[in-house]
Amino acid sequence: MRIAVARESDPAEDRVAATPDTVKKLKSLGAELVIEPGAGVKSGIPDAEFTAAGASIAGDAVNNADVVLKVRRPNAIELASYKKGAIVIAIMDPYGNDTALKAMADAGVTAFAMELMPRITRAQSMDVLSSQANLAGYRAVIDASSEYGRALPMMMTAAGTVPAAKVFVMGVGVAGLQAIATARRLGAVVTATDVRPAVKEQVQSLGAKFIAVEDEEFKQAETAGGYAKEMSKEYQAKQAALVADHIKKQDIVITTALIPGRPAPRLVSRDMVASMRPGSVIVDLAVERGGNVEGARPGEVAAVDGVKIVGHLNVAGRLAATASALYAKNLLTFLDLMIDKSAKSLAVPWDDEIVKATVLTRDGAVVHPNFAPKSAA
Ligand code: NAI
Repeated sequence: MRIAVARESDPAEDRVAATPDTVKKLKSLGAELVIEPGAGVKSGIPDAEFTAAGASIAGDAVNNADVVLKVRRPNAIELASYKKGAIVIAIMDPYGNDTALKAMADAGVTAFAMELMPRITRAQSMDVLSSQANLAGYRAVIDASSEYGRALPMMMTAAGTVPAAKVFVMGVGVAGLQAIATARRLGAVVTATDVRPAVKEQVQSLGAKFIAVEDEEFKQAETAGGYAKEMSKEYQAKQAALVADHIKKQDIVITTALIPGRPAPRLVSRDMVASMRPGSVIVDLAVERGGNVEGARPGEVAAVDGVKIVGHLNVAGRLAATASALYAKNLLTFLDLMIDKSAKSLAVPWDDEIVKATVLTRDGAVVHPNFAPKSAA
């Protein structure tokens, strides 16, 4: 059982899919680990640390691998070097990328998308959306505070009193909860909103105030999977009125609202941005999925009417070492499921709900029901 860890080909990706710690554990399960040179460098892991953990380093690490571990979906050039039937595990970004999924099927690899992990207790330790969103939520506050020209905590000094910054978090999933906690630790006065009622108590338990349109639709807004539904036009209008009034008094706004498989909901309009005091900062964590904020530009810090709108991409990757450590651990627990410990070989439990939910391609076809071509599904 040969497991390869690829070096990411995308220059904007600093994370790596294994750490010396996960290499050791995979070895103890009977795997041979081969790492592409420099794979961990941008996450602060030199090749020597991988070799000390028992891996070998090879330029052609992926060529004969039974399993390839990656952060991002492999491109056509990478796929050409994988062997047919190889298992490839990564964050596959499958929505709207049919051609890329077909390319993986055509290459004959068995691809697993870590972001399709079901939200069940057993899979919590494999949940990359959670492990990475948590870090993105933290980093969003750090990025906001570095763009903000004032302090976050209240300070009483001989030269005068500095008021606490007001931080508003929109969308309180994993990222939003960590953003609230981080902003509170930095001494800000925090409010937050979401469309899922379950969130209210969580917000309050972190010492923040919950603000939302709590009508009948709100009471039904959570799916069985724990995600938000797309809200009606009427709800959106009521929500916009509430937000418009609140946002103009805020110093920092962090938006994280997402709906699986859909464009991000637009929560902050140009007028709302203009209503904020110059020097205010908005961080749009949903910018990769269309953005929650009008005027947010992917990969840029945009200045709109004196307000900075931060649109960094791959925000978890801005904490590459920590993000890699958690991602690698997610992969390790997922792989553990696929390894027969006594035979020390791969044995994928195809009927396991975790496997069924995450497998994208197999035997030359796109097999996931959400992405398979309609005639084949
Ligand atoms: P997400 O990244 O899909 O969305 C972020 C937040 O945006 C969500 O809280 C969502 O309700 C909110 N949102 C969507 N549309 C909105 C709108 N129009 N206005 C305001 N807010 C809006 O969500 P995430 O972070 O992936 O978490 C979703 C849920 O899954 C949470 O309840 C979380 O606790 C739960 N979860 C469960 C796990 C498990 O049981 N294994 C693991 C991880 C998360």
